[in-house]
Amino acid sequence: MIVTRSLQKAYGDHLVVDGVSLTLPAGGVTSIIGPNGAGKSTLLSMVSRLLAMDSGSVEVDGLDVARTPSNLLARRLAILRQDNHLSVRLTVQDLVAFGRYPHNLGRPGPDDRVHVDRSLAWLGLDELRTRYLDELSGGQRQRAFVAMALCQDTDYLLLDEPLNNLDIRHSSQMMERLRRAADELGRTVVVVLHDINFASWYSDTIVAMKNGRVHSEGPPGEIITGERLSDLYDTPIQVIEAQGRRICLFYEAANHAAGG
Ligand SMILES: Nc1ncnc2c1ncn2[C@@H]1O[C@H](COP(=O)(O)OP(=O)(O)O)[C@@H](O)[C@H]1O
Ligand SMILES: [Mg+2]
Repeated sequence: MIVTRSLQKAYGDHLVVDGVSLTLPAGGVTSIIGPNGAGKSTLLSMVSRLLAMDSGSVEVDGLDVARTPSNLLARRLAILRQDNHLSVRLTVQDLVAFGRYPHNLGRPGPDDRVHVDRSLAWLGLDELRTRYLDELSGGQRQRAFVAMALCQDTDYLLLDEPLNNLDIRHSSQMMERLRRAADELGRTVVVVLHDINFASWYSDTIVAMKNGRVHSEGPPGEIITGERLSDLYDTPIQVIEAQGRRICLFYEAANHAAGG
């Protein structure tokens, strides 16, 4: 379980995370949704200690993140950042192997190789394993970074917009795999998503953020409603049911539906 208490971060006088107190359950998939600039990335960065908080606290399974040695935290929690820039030229398998660093401190053993192979296979990267990252499409590179995070073999997997650059097939596959990582590997997956239909279909819990605060949180059945989402994104969103699923319609959907 990840618990944040009154978490706060400001840049100048702009409060970008404004007293966020959240409990993210262990297990399953939690999606974080909300408009650009809502503070989603800042929140995840503070939870994973990539960014110092101004005030408040974060606990991961009872460990105070501010006081936990990096190596210990890195064996509990992996994070994929929204922007991954690398200045070194690496192959896919070398990148993925970096995920093992907290476990082997740079001295890989046979066990590490097993984890690397498994993560590559999980993300469908077998055939690309010896390719350099700068020879890949954006979506392939994105999958390689997710494989690296998975390879860290942590209880908690935090992914900031992992569907960036992915086409529809690869987005669906990624969400399927994250769902299976939760169901079959027992991982706790926390994922920032812009596609609210994926959030609706694949999450156990949704946290909606707006203006640095938690706008609403709960199971998809509570959060995925036209009223809540329209308010969250300040744009008309309609929710319909089809095949037992809630589906969001946007592009000024409400106007069109009304014949406008
Ligand atoms: N390093 C920074 N300096 C100043 N402002 C920042 C910085 N990082 C983020 N912000 C601002 O904080 C707000 C929240 O950003 P972010 O957490 O990235 O939002 P989200 O991920 O929800 O789109 C935005 O208004 C953004 O411009
Ligand atoms: Mg972001």
